[in-house]
Amino acid sequence: MSLSSEISQSADLVVDQLLKAFEDRFESHVGSLVVRAPGRVNLIGDHTDYNEGFVLPITIDRDVYVVVRARTDEVIRLYSVNYEEAVSYDLTAPPPVETGRWTSYVTGAVEELHRRGLLDAGFDLLIYGNVPPGAGLSSSAALEIAVVHALSSVFRLSLEPVEMALLCQTVEHRYAGVQCGIMDQFASRLGRRKHALFLDCRTLEYEHVPLPLEEFDLALVIADSRVTRELANSKYSERRKECNRVVAAIQRSDGQIRSLRDLNADGLNRWAGVLDNTLYDRARHVVSENARVMAARDALREGDFHALGRRMNESHESLRDLFEVSAPELDLLVSSAQHIDGVLGVRMTGGGFGGCTINLVEQNAVPLLKRTLRAAYARKYGREPSVYVLKQNHETEILHGGY
Ligand code: GLA
Repeated sequence: MSLSSEISQSADLVVDQLLKAFEDRFESHVGSLVVRAPGRVNLIGDHTDYNEGFVLPITIDRDVYVVVRARTDEVIRLYSVNYEEAVSYDLTAPPPVETGRWTSYVTGAVEELHRRGLLDAGFDLLIYGNVPPGAGLSSSAALEIAVVHALSSVFRLSLEPVEMALLCQTVEHRYAGVQCGIMDQFASRLGRRKHALFLDCRTLEYEHVPLPLEEFDLALVIADSRVTRELANSKYSERRKECNRVVAAIQRSDGQIRSLRDLNADGLNRWAGVLDNTLYDRARHVVSENARVMAARDALREGDFHALGRRMNESHESLRDLFEVSAPELDLLVSSAQHIDGVLGVRMTGGGFGGCTINLVEQNAVPLLKRTLRAAYARKYGREPSVYVLKQNHETEILHGGY
């Protein structure tokens, strides 16, 4: 199986193939359990999660699968189908962290469970994923969640879904060196089929908002620029620091403000004089994006997809001009789509500096959208973006075995 294996494969077929692969690798699959956790795409609300704001992601139909079986000793044997790579170690002697490699997400998750006294036995575990890595679709969150959910189920750890998301965020911080917010892990674990997930990143209260795309003859189309910026992580932490500097500057006069979440547009305006232009723009993005997420959630509740599309277009402008996390490749994908009749809204999605755009589009305009994006991008960059129509969205679940 390769990374390019198509998602149209039915889940049953994938499970059969994975059980066979597990058996080839680890003698037998008796007593094993198969878990699947999806990647995510964000409808709206970027760079708001670490500012204790609001986000509205959805899960996608690309996932990480994990097959796991408990052992009675402390040996851990891992195998990645995608990388055709095996690792074996003792629970009490984890291998050194190799930041950014698949092994670190897995050994990091295991370490966290062990450190918290939740895990004291070994296991055999096989992984396969079809979330494109480096595309901003949260392949790492899906991997962390799949591993933790699988271990939690096979060892009956009774971890709550929100606890799992928080634990996986810690894995990302400690073992991948990315100071991400909570959106990706939360979306992968708590996202639900045919729904978007509205999340308040301060209180972690959430709502599954119905997303009846088919009823409205609409589709979501993801266009992957296939740009993975080396600098994405350092730029991401630079933005986080800028947001913290805004809060620190305001706190000198008003201790009530804990994060940018505590400001609306008028409230922020009062501080224009104490912030330099760049910091003011960063804050304007976050404050206005939070308002757009609320408006987008309300639009979805009312089935007003045109209003949702308008908020998506505004979000892109704000991420491009105020927060400056877009990229020329993403801007081209956005402006090319915006010229097409039937495209209700489009924006870059996720951390930025590369990755994907998300298009809300009438179903009958999808073929033209695909052709236009491919042609415009190839003309300028000499290669095509990958374009996927999101057929359905998955949720984290046990596909085989379990109690
Ligand atoms: C990355 C991070 C998330 C979030 C987005 C931007 O995906 O992992 O926590 O901050 O960027 O919205």
